[in-house]
Amino acid sequence: MGIMNKKPVARPFIKWAGGKTQLVDTFRWFYPAALFRGEIERYVEPFVGSGAVLLDIIQRHPFKEAVIADINPALIATYKAVKENVEHLIDYLADMEEKYLSLGEKERKDFYYTKRDEYNRIIAGNDGLEFRSPQLTGAGLFLFLNRTCYNGLYRVNRAGIFNVPAGRYKKPRICNPDNLRAVSALLQNVTVLQCHYQECMSYMDKNSFVYFDPPYRPLSATSSFTSYSSAGFDDREQKKLAAFYRIMHQKGAFLMLSNSNPGDNDSGDIFFRRLYHGFNIQTVNARRTINSRGDHRGAVSEIIVTNYTPWSRSP
Ligand SMILES: C[S@@+](CC[C@H](N)C(=O)[O-])C[C@H]1O[C@@H](n2cnc3c(N)ncnc32)[C@H](O)[C@@H]1O
Repeated sequence: MGIMNKKPVARPFIKWAGGKTQLVDTFRWFYPAALFRGEIERYVEPFVGSGAVLLDIIQRHPFKEAVIADINPALIATYKAVKENVEHLIDYLADMEEKYLSLGEKERKDFYYTKRDEYNRIIAGNDGLEFRSPQLTGAGLFLFLNRTCYNGLYRVNRAGIFNVPAGRYKKPRICNPDNLRAVSALLQNVTVLQCHYQECMSYMDKNSFVYFDPPYRPLSATSSFTSYSSAGFDDREQKKLAAFYRIMHQKGAFLMLSNSNPGDNDSGDIFFRRLYHGFNIQTVNARRTINSRGDHRGAVSEIIVTNYTPWSRSP
């Protein structure tokens, strides 16, 4: 019953475009009242990314079951490595951190590009084997690149090759053992899936709270950042997701979805209002952390669509 008192200790272990760390406190007001009454058994997050909402919610609410998914195979393989083999991963990353930090600027760059090539050779194999091997090279490299690349972006080209240039952080934290262990402990009760969000359908029923955080609809034609995977997410995909949302609503699941607010740029844009007509749509302020241009950060708003009255507004 009620919000658990313990302050969450485990935090996202990767940087991710569209990460919700700064929004979790706001999001809590939009959760269903049934969650606070302890009536919801399962939490489902089919676009998990860095898991900011997942980690916050499962440390505050005791669910019987949690299920996360993402279409990005490298991301999910890394979650599995954190879940199943965290001590090996910590050893690998601690070693990388020591090496990297001991280098000068030019050598760091060379080191980064050598590791990026190594990583791309692994993902080109595409069977994820190295991610699961005891050396966990794939997951280790994924985390190393995430911490040292430009802006913490994960971007692949059409061929699936990771192509983000080197970043220039003075003292990046490549290995945070306490946080990795805390996340690993929490993940023991979480089902981790690499799949399309629709494949999570069987987990969505009247006992579930589902949070959808799909790739943003670009605020303008040039600001698009939707290349977490080589597949992309265009307006057709947004429409399919809205149709899926309606079907899950009919199954009785509690649903919450967030996206960029197109009204920010064009008040005449009623794209989402049309798609989610009949549901509760609200707007909250957000600070977008990763944009296609690092200098274009700032306050923008985000829409939240729920198929229930949020608990803070319940009579
Ligand atoms: C906006 S991000 C989620 C951010 C997350 N809430 C966080 O705090 O980091 C969207 C995620 O959806 C994933 N994705 C894109 N298309 C997908 C699909 N069809 N099915 C499942 N996941 C998908 C991307 O790989 C990306 O991780």
